[in-house]
Amino acid sequence: MTQGHKRVAILISGGGSNMMTLAHSMTGDHPARPVLVLANDPSAKGLARAADLGIPTAAVDHRAYKGDRAAFEAALLQPLLAARPDVICLAGFMRILTGSFTQRFAGRMLNIHPSLLPKYPGLHTHQRALDAGDTQAGCTVHEVIADLDAGPILGQATVPVLAGDTADTLAARVLIQEHRLYPAVLRRFAAGDRQPITL
Ligand code: GRF
Repeated sequence: MTQGHKRVAILISGGGSNMMTLAHSMTGDHPARPVLVLANDPSAKGLARAADLGIPTAAVDHRAYKGDRAAFEAALLQPLLAARPDVICLAGFMRILTGSFTQRFAGRMLNIHPSLLPKYPGLHTHQRALDAGDTQAGCTVHEVIADLDAGPILGQATVPVLAGDTADTLAARVLIQEHRLYPAVLRRFAAGDRQPITL
């Protein structure tokens, strides 16, 4: 980590496969380095994986706040601000953030979503694509704003929907693209390039 590198905090809720691809990509001439992996679930498997890579980790259990978003977010801000991130990547982070939280990091918080936004914001994206008879599916990296799974699109990757696909088989095919798209977008974004890309 040198003076010039952008500091990246990654927020996760589960296994962290996207977090791992981001962390592995931030080496060599990459303009950024990971400084924190933060989870809303202390048992998130991604925490141990990040620690194995030598990345500082922290967890704030949202269940302890019994639905009080403001209190949960105030607690989340402590390890986050202490890490002094330039960029925040939501990577399989499954808590909906309030407008005041997203506003605080406006223009420097990214999210990956497993659909071709603006189609299918929210959950169950693959089943909804199948139910609609779509022939293509994919994923999107976008800047985070107060509206859920909205905000300026920075990159998209598509996959074909194949005969016999289930939500699981489609999700697995999309996840492969997620692992290509998010590192590609982050490298550009950390270098100041917001021009959308398509894989
Ligand atoms: C990914 O499909 C991501 O797009 C979604 O959650 C899934 C899990 O991601 N939000 P990860 O393996 O925890 O990165």
